[in-house]
Amino acid sequence: MERLDDEAQRSLTRRCPPIRGREGLAYALDGREVVSYCSNDYLGLSQMPIEAADATGSGASRLVCGDLEVHRRVEARFAEWLGHEDAVLFPSGFQANASVLPCLLSKDDRVHSDRLNHASLIDGMRLSAAPRSLLEHLQPPKLGSREAAPRDWWVCESVFSMDGDGPSLGDLEGHLAGGGCLYLDEAHGLGLFAGGRGRGALLRARPTITVAPLGKAFGCAGAFVAGSKVACAWIRSHARGFVFSTGVSPMLAAAIEVQLERVRGPEGEALRGQLWRKVDRFRTRLGASHGQAFPALRSPIHPIVVGSNARALAISARLLDAGWHVQAIRPPTVPEGSARLRVTICAGHSLEQVDAFADDLLRCLEDA
Ligand SMILES: Cc1ncc(COP(=O)(O)O)c(C=O)c1O
Repeated sequence: MERLDDEAQRSLTRRCPPIRGREGLAYALDGREVVSYCSNDYLGLSQMPIEAADATGSGASRLVCGDLEVHRRVEARFAEWLGHEDAVLFPSGFQANASVLPCLLSKDDRVHSDRLNHASLIDGMRLSAAPRSLLEHLQPPKLGSREAAPRDWWVCESVFSMDGDGPSLGDLEGHLAGGGCLYLDEAHGLGLFAGGRGRGALLRARPTITVAPLGKAFGCAGAFVAGSKVACAWIRSHARGFVFSTGVSPMLAAAIEVQLERVRGPEGEALRGQLWRKVDRFRTRLGASHGQAFPALRSPIHPIVVGSNARALAISARLLDAGWHVQAIRPPTVPEGSARLRVTICAGHSLEQVDAFADDLLRCLEDA
């Protein structure tokens, strides 16, 4: 097909890397034994054994006859932990963003979107009736007059997935204090900050809506959307990805319940301690001694922007030869001309592995 040929010409071909025999961060890929530096399994929870739930499917949409006790229990526990009044469980973060934004935002609202927001947030805003303006990355919106409508929604990520940076807590608080609404996607913050509760938990006022995809540090899948009782009631009866979709599998809901206890308890705290030790080691090795600049926000995500798609692929291939898997990230995931290696450090890496990886990375960057 012509379009695929055209993409190949521009080094944009994508494929799912066929992984075999995964054990923690190690697996076989294309005939090599490698260690992953591109996983979002920051705490290593994705491979924790879980006892099977007592059923596989919920049988119908939650609004028909698929609303099970385990759904209601895990939603209540999550909302209480995060300090929101209520929470709604979705099958995925993409489904949550793509269906909650259109149902919450009306034509009488204004939505302000960070220009580097995740595709699911962009699609959700596109499907909504609210007029949208783009914000420079990490800049807060300017609020209009505060006489009721229109409401100004700031839609952003607490830790940007491809950049590892995030808005300042002062700006987020200022926006809320000024009467704005905040829709905060905590995909890469949940599990890591403030006892695992994400960066939003460090705010003096709650975000209006917190979205918490569970496929990253939670090592699971699915997503909570948390907010006021009124907002959640509206979402349950109007978000199309909730109304017209089979209720989350009870197997997944039961697994989420177990992971929630792990993340919020001493096990999570110990894993966070291990994670930050490895992150600091990597940053020191690459930053202090080799001048690699990283975002001020301490997170597991380290973008190494190399510019051209072909160069990103070449460095990724060299790293694979050295036994490290770091996927090249190219447009449209990141803006044109900013292809990168997105290096993620996880609790499960050993300090020796971090050192060896950092040295090989520097060598490959110089050679390619
Ligand atoms: C910021 C952000 N939001 C939402 C999602 C989508 O979440 P999920 O993987 O659960 O669909 C992702 C995942 O890539 C993400 O990085």
